[in-house]
Amino acid sequence: MEKKTTKTIQICMGSACHLKGAPLIAQAFQAELDKRNDNTAIIELGGAFCQSRCIEGVIVRINNEIYTHVTAADVPALVDICLREE
Ligand code: FES
Repeated sequence: MEKKTTKTIQICMGSACHLKGAPLIAQAFQAELDKRNDNTAIIELGGAFCQSRCIEGVIVRINNEIYTHVTAADVPALVDICLREE
């Protein structure tokens, strides 16, 4: 039996991150996950409330680690990190 692990990617959808492009980054994550269609891990993609680090936005939380100043160009590397972490 194959073990599946659940991992999480949460994009801050607070006002500041929204204005800095969080919706586009969310779309980029969804497109990257669709492209990979990885079935060794389940990644839950979702939004998050303001993480109180607005000046460093866009903020993305991956498996409870915070990443700052995220752009769409960072998305493939962040998905790699998400899949690699235990
Ligand atoms: S709006 Fe994203 S950290 Fe505050």
